Amino acid sequence: MSTRWILAAAVTAALVAAGAGARGGEDDEAGSFWMQKKLEYSENILEALAREDYPAISKNARSMNALSQMEKWVRGSGEYRAQLKIFQNANKQLIRMGDEENLDGASLAYVQLTLSCVNCHKVVRDRSSETTLRAR
Ligand code: HEC
Repeated sequence: MSTRWILAAAVTAALVAAGAGARGGEDDEAGSFWMQKKLEYSENILEALAREDYPAISKNARSMNALSQMEKWVRGSGEYRAQLKIFQNANKQLIRMGDEENLDGASLAYVQLTLSCVNCHKVVRDRSSETTLRAR
């Protein structure tokens, strides 16, 4: 096990914690659905990276991409959309690297993806960005 995997595992643990923290006051079925799927796909991607299973990397990143395309229509404005964009770019890079069977590139894109999970959750928790969760 290289340090890269330890790092990826640590990032995953951090983003799960950040996700739990992002859970707002309101009960939100739709939000939970998106995020549970994201968590599921990102876990699958980590497993695929560990196994060096390129088709599984690309497949799960594509599912994640399709999901975030839908999310784009459903909600968000301003900073939220900006974060979503960063997330989508990292995700597209992950698809590309998976398709090219570039393990180092895919690992880096995965770390960027997980950081974008954490950063978006920060934005969501930041009460000063009131507009973030309006448009739904
Ligand atoms: C563009 C913003 C954004 C990105 C990127 C993002 N999330 Fe979230 N996340 C949210 C919001 C908003 C919530 C609060 C609940 C909701 O409305 O969905 C949340 C909540 C969560 C939760 C709490 C669970 C729940 O059902 O309420 C988990 C777990 C989660 N996110 C996982 C992830 C993972 C894993 C990623 C990255 C692969 C990710 N999120 C990326 C915005 C984001």
